[in-house]
Amino acid sequence: VAELSGHLAKVAIVGAGSVGATLAYACLIRGVAHTVALYDISASKVEAEVLDLRHGLQFVPRADVVGSDDVSVCAGADVIAVTAGAKQRPGQTRLDLAATNVDLCRQLIPRLLEVAPDAVIVMVTNPVDVLTLAALQLSALPPQRVLGTGTVLDSSRLRDLVARHVGVAVQNVHAFVVGEHGDSEFPLWSSASVGSVPLRQFSLAGRPALGPEDEQRIAHEVVTAAERIIRGKGATNYAIGLAGARVIEAIIKDENRVLPVTSLLSGHDDLGQVCLSLPAVVNRSGVQAVLDVSMSEEERDLLSRSAAAVRAVAESLL
Ligand SMILES: NC(=O)c1ccc[n+]([C@@H]2O[C@H](COP(=O)([O-])OP(=O)(O)OC[C@H]3O[C@@H](n4cnc5c(N)ncnc54)[C@H](O)[C@@H]3O)[C@@H](O)[C@H]2O)c1
Repeated sequence: VAELSGHLAKVAIVGAGSVGATLAYACLIRGVAHTVALYDISASKVEAEVLDLRHGLQFVPRADVVGSDDVSVCAGADVIAVTAGAKQRPGQTRLDLAATNVDLCRQLIPRLLEVAPDAVIVMVTNPVDVLTLAALQLSALPPQRVLGTGTVLDSSRLRDLVARHVGVAVQNVHAFVVGEHGDSEFPLWSSASVGSVPLRQFSLAGRPALGPEDEQRIAHEVVTAAERIIRGKGATNYAIGLAGARVIEAIIKDENRVLPVTSLLSGHDDLGQVCLSLPAVVNRSGVQAVLDVSMSEEERDLLSRSAAAVRAVAESLL
């Protein structure tokens, strides 16, 4: 019961950079776990972030923050979120980071599991689909216990753009970006809805409906969003922090929440051995089930192409 309410739960965040520190901040504000532990190879960085976060504990639901450059700070964690590693520089794709970050996983994953053998692993480091498969293979855990934030962030970007276009609250837009968290991702327009009205039939008086050109423009904006943000401020952190905290909360509070996380796809033999995002039920066990979403023929084709792009990188490294 304690774990379900998050009161005794512990989340360990690996990497106290822009993403890790913001993820910790979001977890604290949302009251996701009783203990938030930060682990980073840079002792000065992790110490500074822990102090800064601790100085805000008065203003959030009861929790503690600990941190260290020693991996034992992650001991007994219920969830380990991995944000450590190289990030995109302007002009780099997420897949360009693969070799460096797979090597980092090789060192990290066994050490993390030594201290927190029962944790669900949530990968955030990019390219997140390749690294989720890497973490799964390196850990030899059951597939449901290893997932990545995948297109949870991209779907939230999509919903923001659609909501602004059609004039309803972002919470009432139901739409998913699926596939790779990267250049080959795409929105499932055919099943998107507002309230229970199919998005392609939706319009409010005095506002433009969403036409095919809008779909193309919005899909492009979603795919290039990170690039624009990185050009302007060097990293993305707030929305991924919130998206990651949402995923962790679904696990710790055993919510059975449908989220487009990345995980090993089973039942999709045509796509091969690959981690990709599709809407999935997330709870204390990790990914309980990947949903069998209805797709148009074009969407199926895009999913196969996305799988091929991720598989090509994963197969060259794993
Ligand atoms: N999945 C997503 O949607 C998403 C969104 C944004 C960023 N990211 C990814 O998250 C990662 C981190 O981005 P960032 O902006 O926080 O980078 P950053 O450079 O600010 O932080 C990375 C941190 O990892 C630490 N680190 C490196 N090696 C380590 C190790 N072996 N053990 C522990 N800590 C280690 C570094 O000291 C640094 O503090 C990148 O790969 C980035 O592409 C993913």
